[in-house]
Amino acid sequence: MNGRSVLDECKIAVVGATGAVGLEVLSILAGRGVPSTHVISLASERSAGTKLAYGRDQVIVKAVSAEAFDGVEYAIFAADGSTSTRWAAVAVQRGVTVIDNSSAFRMADGVPLVVPEINGGVLDGDAGKAQIIANPNCSTILLLLALEPLRAAFGVCEIVVSTYQAVSGAGIAAMDELREQTRDVLAGKAAQPKVFTEPCAFNLFSHDSSVDVETGQNGEETKIIAETRKIWNDAEVRVIPTCVRVPVLRAHTQAVTVRLGRAAIGEEVGDAMSRGVGLRVMDDRQGNRFPTPAKASGADEVLVGRIRAAEPIATGATTDRFCLLLSGDQLRKGAALNAVQIAEYVESRRNAAVAN
Ligand SMILES: NC(=O)c1ccc[n+]([C@@H]2O[C@H](COP(=O)([O-])OP(=O)(O)OC[C@H]3O[C@@H](n4cnc5c(N)ncnc54)[C@H](OP(=O)(O)O)[C@@H]3O)[C@@H](O)[C@H]2O)c1
Repeated sequence: MNGRSVLDECKIAVVGATGAVGLEVLSILAGRGVPSTHVISLASERSAGTKLAYGRDQVIVKAVSAEAFDGVEYAIFAADGSTSTRWAAVAVQRGVTVIDNSSAFRMADGVPLVVPEINGGVLDGDAGKAQIIANPNCSTILLLLALEPLRAAFGVCEIVVSTYQAVSGAGIAAMDELREQTRDVLAGKAAQPKVFTEPCAFNLFSHDSSVDVETGQNGEETKIIAETRKIWNDAEVRVIPTCVRVPVLRAHTQAVTVRLGRAAIGEEVGDAMSRGVGLRVMDDRQGNRFPTPAKASGADEVLVGRIRAAEPIATGATTDRFCLLLSGDQLRKGAALNAVQIAEYVESRRNAAVAN
């Protein structure tokens, strides 16, 4: 146990508890001191009866059902979109506030899409009511958290981002695939793709989401663009992503070029980044040490470095284009941690309303 949470007294269901994100949700709740007796672990029939580690305790997985949501205050959904579509409304009808990691509801009118450090305020008016709250796409969360200090200080008009995404973004089966293919290739055998269509060991490839034949954008790129505009409530911001899967188990990396709303000197941008919430600046130019997925794995903060003017400028001169490199654990801040923080945000607003 490494902390306390406002959720200590709440009953919390985790749907998809056996998956890559669900296991991380359990680890975060246990780490925040939520007792195992308050946690309902749900998954498909396949996993019913499975025992999962929960801090020093264990929880036993049940198949998801309507009755499983009775008495539950928060349900964190970490399964596929069809499971969310089937069960989220059932949970809300039983008085549960649902925080959904899938893309099923993110762009739906009336469904808040939330990174608490950026737009938690959209929940303030409705904090008391059972509703569906969407957790954004992992790449979007990491990108916008890193850019928030620049948006707050200077405004942001345009983002060009190239992603280097870990295989765990495609779930536990994809992590197994990278391990298995790595062993096979090192043993001189051919990689056998199952989850991905391309080999993932010793390779990289354009993101595995489907490509729109008209626009050429893949699904991940489309999500980053649309979700950025919804979270920032800014229909004008230009977002130009290229998403790539790399042979890394965990934590996504992004190379970002941003055009600010006004020109700034490098020191101002560095100062703004150092004040960013949920960020750790790692920018050792002398030592050539910057964010990596290995350093970001298991960390709650998004690591940010290589902060520089897009083209070299004289000391004290201004420009509106800056670059940076970030790495963030997409299973934590990109999914499980952000979902838990949304529940904490809502619960703290409810507690404040009761206190008043
Ligand atoms: N991985 C990431 O980095 C990431 C980041 C942000 C958002 N997300 C989203 O989070 C969700 C979970 O992703 P993941 O990577 O954790 O996937 P995963 O490792 O494949 O886990 C999927 C989970 O869903 C459960 N499930 C599947 N079918 C079900 C059903 N019919 N009823 C109930 N539970 C069912 C599975 O349970 P069984 O073990 O019983 O099959 C498992 O617990 C997805 O919507 C994904 O898009 C993932």
